[in-house]
Amino acid sequence: MSAIASARTTTVGTLSGMAQGFRGDVADFYHRYRRGYPLAVLDAVVEVFGLTPDDVAVDLGCGTGQVTVPLAERVRAVIGVDPEPDMLAHGRRAGEERGAANLAWVVGTDADVPAWRAVLGDGSVGVVTIGQALHWMRHDELFRALHPLVRPGGGVAVLTNGTPLWLQDEDWSRALRECLEQWLGTPAGNACGTDEESQARYRESLAAAGFRVDVRGVDYTAELDLESIVGGVLSALPVDRLPADRQAFTDLVRAALEPHAPFTEHVHVTVLTGRR
Ligand SMILES: C[S@@+](CC[C@H](N)C(=O)[O-])C[C@H]1O[C@@H](n2cnc3c(N)ncnc32)[C@H](O)[C@@H]1O
Repeated sequence: MSAIASARTTTVGTLSGMAQGFRGDVADFYHRYRRGYPLAVLDAVVEVFGLTPDDVAVDLGCGTGQVTVPLAERVRAVIGVDPEPDMLAHGRRAGEERGAANLAWVVGTDADVPAWRAVLGDGSVGVVTIGQALHWMRHDELFRALHPLVRPGGGVAVLTNGTPLWLQDEDWSRALRECLEQWLGTPAGNACGTDEESQARYRESLAAAGFRVDVRGVDYTAELDLESIVGGVLSALPVDRLPADRQAFTDLVRAALEPHAPFTEHVHVTVLTGRR
């Protein structure tokens, strides 16, 4: 696999759609405040693809390791791939803290898949997971390129991890969205691939690439506090739009949200799988 970042520009900045990387403080906020996935999600991925301790997995767009690290307990090895070294550094530390010796962290993007095929060999991978990251990738080309890489019965798992904080059907979320739109001066409508329209495109694209498509969901409810909401928002901002005065930003969000407490979040995790 190529260890060199693709020259292709990677656009991130999920809240506003602006082009900036997940790096510096944004990577720190991501690591600290973005939740992982319920174990039932990992169980579903293992079950769909019949993963065993002999399998190798690739976690594409691995970020700070929300999927990579827990998946390592269920397979022989996981390769976490992401264009942002700061995200990978957090993932590496998280893996070390869990004592996982079967993780590799590689700088790269979806554009590198043809190189993985050359290095790893066709049919060599049990699953390629893509957690909350497909909206940054060229999914049609990606799914076509992944089909020969995965072993028969293996495949691709596309995960979403709830609706963005500012787009939920709750009064506190509507207040957050209004507050952010005023502060950013731009609409905050990016659903980051969690919306039904995007999901339908992904399903069609997987099927067109030759995968057998299945969708499962895991639902749970969480209570958020103001710190995790502010941290979650900051983890989704372009790094050059982070507020210089974090306390003033926190106070602004607190004033907007406090009338709508408690901050209950109904989280729907989508497990979209394509089996070869
Ligand atoms: C929202 S984070 C998701 C992190 C983690 N997988 C999760 O489930 O929380 C999206 C990640 O995708 C990465 N990314 C952006 N463009 C990418 C691309 N073209 N190929 C691979 N990863 C990409 C970003 O650097 C970022 O770490």
